[in-house]
Amino acid sequence: MRKVYFDHSATTPVDPAVVEEMMKYLTEHFGNPSSIHAFGREARKAVEKARQQVATAIGASSVGEISFTSCGTESDNMAIRGVAYANRQKGNHIITTAAEHSAVLACCKQLEREGFSVTVLPLDEYGRVTAQQVADAITDKTILISVMHANNEIGTIMPIREISEVARAKRILFHTDAVQSVGKIPVNVDELGVDLLTLSGHKIYGPKGIGAMYIRKGTFWQPITFGGGQERRRRPGTENVAGIVGLGKAIEMATENMYADAERLSKYRDRIITEVLEKIPNTILTGHPQERLPNHVSFCFRFIEGESMLLMLDMKGIAISSGSACTSGSLEPSHVLTAIGLSKEVAHGSLRLTMGKINTEEDVEYFLEVLPPIIERLREMSPLSEGCNPCACSSCTVHDDDHHHDHGEFEDEF
Ligand SMILES: Cc1ncc(COP(=O)(O)O)c(C=O)c1O
Repeated sequence: MRKVYFDHSATTPVDPAVVEEMMKYLTEHFGNPSSIHAFGREARKAVEKARQQVATAIGASSVGEISFTSCGTESDNMAIRGVAYANRQKGNHIITTAAEHSAVLACCKQLEREGFSVTVLPLDEYGRVTAQQVADAITDKTILISVMHANNEIGTIMPIREISEVARAKRILFHTDAVQSVGKIPVNVDELGVDLLTLSGHKIYGPKGIGAMYIRKGTFWQPITFGGGQERRRRPGTENVAGIVGLGKAIEMATENMYADAERLSKYRDRIITEVLEKIPNTILTGHPQERLPNHVSFCFRFIEGESMLLMLDMKGIAISSGSACTSGSLEPSHVLTAIGLSKEVAHGSLRLTMGKINTEEDVEYFLEVLPPIIERLREMSPLSEGCNPCACSSCTVHDDDHHHDHGEFEDEF
């Protein structure tokens, strides 16, 4: 059976060229970068080379602005908690959005318990916030704004540059979670105008368990963990040398190949979106139709349980996800889908398909052939669609037995 991996937003395979670089630092050059002998110096050299690779990829002006961490989640926590506590005397207010990954939202929730106040901005129907919303939420106690670059569940890209202009004008620190955008769309810290940025290795063909945090020189920030002097005391602990080397190589390759990959994958993306909306009635495209990641497709199918669809596609060899990997398995629908105005029932029928460099046109064709009968079958079995005679028009979202509906009337629903 054909095997198709369409879940690159959850994680990516490690590129063989990345593995090759890493191997040497697991076996031959295994030294501790803090040791001053030759083994240690070899490891230190590799860590500093990777730091340069990350700095170059995101346009940081100095390598000192890059700290290695264990993952995107840790970088988000370091950025947010580190700014919150360092600026506690100035204020206690943080602005973020309902689109954020739980690494940001749960961190902000915890800060609320510790006496900070958090504004979570609502999203529009495509999952975006505007710079004006951010401006309106700012108070004289605001110390940090954290808005993700691109959303993991619906692929929507946020207007980071416009938001950073607001933050700059008010001299408020600005963090962006760029875990999903690095390697897919341009990520340059000066063009985006951010003070702190999060990225992660395993989304860009690097290994799991490695991430980085960018912190602009001069940013008022304090560490959140304490120990030895590694990473300029920002993130103590013996460095994951092989992981760091892997991240350096991966980000270098990801930025080199970005435009070619984006061009190819966005064609697949647009074909899937067009054909699925055409072929399968009662389907909603989630996320922004244009301002979305080039490899990202996401839908909600009415009268469908996302988990059943996922399992049936899995039986056909296709790996997709329903909602984010972190929340699938839970019965709660995705917070992002409900935040863009979808009902819980509709949100349960979500599908996220994220392509990567291993995917081909044949994968796309296979998916387009396999999906419609699965949806049809599930709808036949679904108690949700009992007596339902869905409208056959393309992308119609209406569940109306009589078929006497006015499409406009349902547009308010999301
Ligand atoms: C937007 C976003 N932020 C943060 C993370 C967490 O990254 P990590 O898995 O490296 O902890 C993810 C992972 O899915 C993500 O998609």
